[in-house]
Amino acid sequence: MSTYDRIVGGATATSAIPWQVSLRQCQHGACHFCGGTVLDSKTILTAAHCKVQTSHYIMVGKVSRMEGQNVQVSKVINPNPNWNENTMDNDIMILKLSTPLTLGSDVQAICLPSATFEPSVGSTCFTSGWGTTKENGELPTNLQYVGVPVVSQSSCNAAYNNGITANMICAGFAAGGKDSCQGDSGGPLLVEQDGRYVLAGVTSWGYGCGDYGYPGVYARVTAQLEWIMSSLGEEEIACEAGIGFRHC
Ligand code: ARG
Repeated sequence: MSTYDRIVGGATATSAIPWQVSLRQCQHGACHFCGGTVLDSKTILTAAHCKVQTSHYIMVGKVSRMEGQNVQVSKVINPNPNWNENTMDNDIMILKLSTPLTLGSDVQAICLPSATFEPSVGSTCFTSGWGTTKENGELPTNLQYVGVPVVSQSSCNAAYNNGITANMICAGFAAGGKDSCQGDSGGPLLVEQDGRYVLAGVTSWGYGCGDYGYPGVYARVTAQLEWIMSSLGEEEIACEAGIGFRHC
């Protein structure tokens, strides 16, 4: 299995990616284990396989994993009821925070896609996180991001022995080299819809990282919208990813 040098093949964010969350088991960046995205000031979306507990913390609003404030998770809205640990189907979960985040330039809610949005094959997505820069590698100190094209369900299914359900979306280059990796799970896959970036996927799984012929697999957000919306509070979500994804 080949490995590559960097997320895999990405670049260091030059400023905070405002919706990017680090999940950690203790109040320190060294305890990072998964990514997540900000849905509103008290709500974080991540992957079900991250198995977050109320003893865990989140950090948002910094490039360095070692900076920023930790906020404790106060409630875990259990994994999507249709989450299947064996097939990774519906790999998504929602957390509530003990103290609301102060939204501003460095901390913002992600925009959600409209229910019928279907990112076209080949369109560029961005994924980001503090996951390893190569398979079995180390976590980088600074947040990484990378652009990867949407892959069709049929070619992704061909790569993964028909393991790709309608609740998954794949992204990656045929040649590999750029991908999410271990520790990026739960983080965002963004695609442009009507001139702004929306959350199309949640980093979920893949064979290796950036390996030739094996795209990254993400939980498809449009398939989860109803469940996501039912887990949000009354608060109006002023998502600002419409202003442009500053890091691309
Ligand atoms: N399961 C990994 C995690 O828990 C994410 C793997 C993503 N893999 C990939 N090749 N895109 O962090």
